[in-house]
Amino acid sequence: MSTAKSKLSSHPGGPENPYDLHTIADAFDKLQTWIAQYGDVISIPPLKRKDPCFFINNADMLKHILVSNHKNYVKGAAFDRVKLLLGNGIIVSDGTFWRKQRRMIQPAFGKEVIAEIFQNMKGCNFAILDDWQKRAAEDGTINITDLTNELALEIILRAIFSIDFDEITRGDDGNPFSILTDNSTRDLQLAVKFRELKQLLQKFIDKRRQATDRPNDFLTAFIEARDKDSGEAMTDKELLDELVTLIVAGSETSAATMNWVWYLLSQHPEVEAKVHAEIDAASFDDAPDFMQCIELSYLKQVIEEALRLYPPVWLYSRKAIDDDTVGSFEIPAGTDIFISPYFLHRNKDYWDDADAFNPERFSDENIKKRHKFAFIPFSAGPRRCIGDFFGTVEAQIHFAILARHFKLRLQNTEALELEPEVNLRTKNPFIMKIERR
Ligand code: HEM
Repeated sequence: MSTAKSKLSSHPGGPENPYDLHTIADAFDKLQTWIAQYGDVISIPPLKRKDPCFFINNADMLKHILVSNHKNYVKGAAFDRVKLLLGNGIIVSDGTFWRKQRRMIQPAFGKEVIAEIFQNMKGCNFAILDDWQKRAAEDGTINITDLTNELALEIILRAIFSIDFDEITRGDDGNPFSILTDNSTRDLQLAVKFRELKQLLQKFIDKRRQATDRPNDFLTAFIEARDKDSGEAMTDKELLDELVTLIVAGSETSAATMNWVWYLLSQHPEVEAKVHAEIDAASFDDAPDFMQCIELSYLKQVIEEALRLYPPVWLYSRKAIDDDTVGSFEIPAGTDIFISPYFLHRNKDYWDDADAFNPERFSDENIKKRHKFAFIPFSAGPRRCIGDFFGTVEAQIHFAILARHFKLRLQNTEALELEPEVNLRTKNPFIMKIERR
């Protein structure tokens, strides 16, 4: 086990002053300092929480927690903040209830279903393409952060509601779900605003339950899903929680990924040229079909490298049910364990020149040489992201359609500043100028 920087003792080092990770805005900066000071396993005395807390930045140990001994862990303190919003949806639920829900939802994320949703993804991107054709002839300045947020929100809403999308998003002030893209904190205020939206969602759930000829989308799949043991369907409350979970989990993460890729391409013309060459060499006219799209392998490497450097879910957690031993450390029952893909993805034990953008890291050959658990933007084990393939395809088709005709040039003059909230954002949106290739 690679414990290069961690001391071989039953209790790891760490700060003396109590601190609760994930409730205080400077958690990111604190972690950066502590990793340099104490290594890859850090004990942090709790402030308001009562249980001990470890931060772990070692791939072997994370494999143990997320995969080999996952049964000993439930979702931890990092999820407290989103519980108000997501109810008991599958991101926050645990145990037998989580297993039942995941089994009912999983089939909707199969390749065949995503291949159908792919047609909607294409449609959304063609609308952007049309817009950019016009804009490029004029000033050509866009806020790509807002645009990717709106795009990802539309894609997940269309995946859920398909034919009802236009009606559900036709509020007096535009798409009522836009409150999600305007609020980064996922706090109580958002949960309260979301209450009204839940009533709106309920209206469409009722309508769909009554329909005899249902369209093929996530909502129908969830309504028709049956628990394989009890044969029971989801209740309205369960259904609502799962829909809100998908809307929240499936929009900002994908949006951030596309946003970061545009930024990184604009800063690395040599990588951008290779992306263009791959898209140009593929034999499609306006857009690839599903198979052609997922075969754009260099583009996929670029997306993965963006997810390495800027993983949208930069911090998550687990809680130990019983005592455990991880590496040489004893983990008492109840310990909160914090995991950060951001810091793991820049850990020099696994990554050479870790801060450099280099998509070659994700060539088949280089992946084989690396620790399998050094790259966990979607987490790992049974709680791995259910939308990993959805999110990757969503980004692939976006770039396949738009980067075929355009490149974007960064207009921001200030230095890049991260905003590590529930998701990893930038403090300021990226303002880009559209240029025809
Ligand atoms: C690139 C985009 C995405 C990233 C980086 C991402 C990241 C993650 C991570 C890290 C987790 C697990 C957290 C943990 O282990 O505690 C997760 C779980 C989840 N994600 Fe994603 N996600 C992305 C896209 C999506 C999309 C598009 C959807 C839905 C369409 C989605 C739905 C979910 C759900 C439902 C879970 C909970 C799974 C479970 O616990 O069973 N995600 N995601």
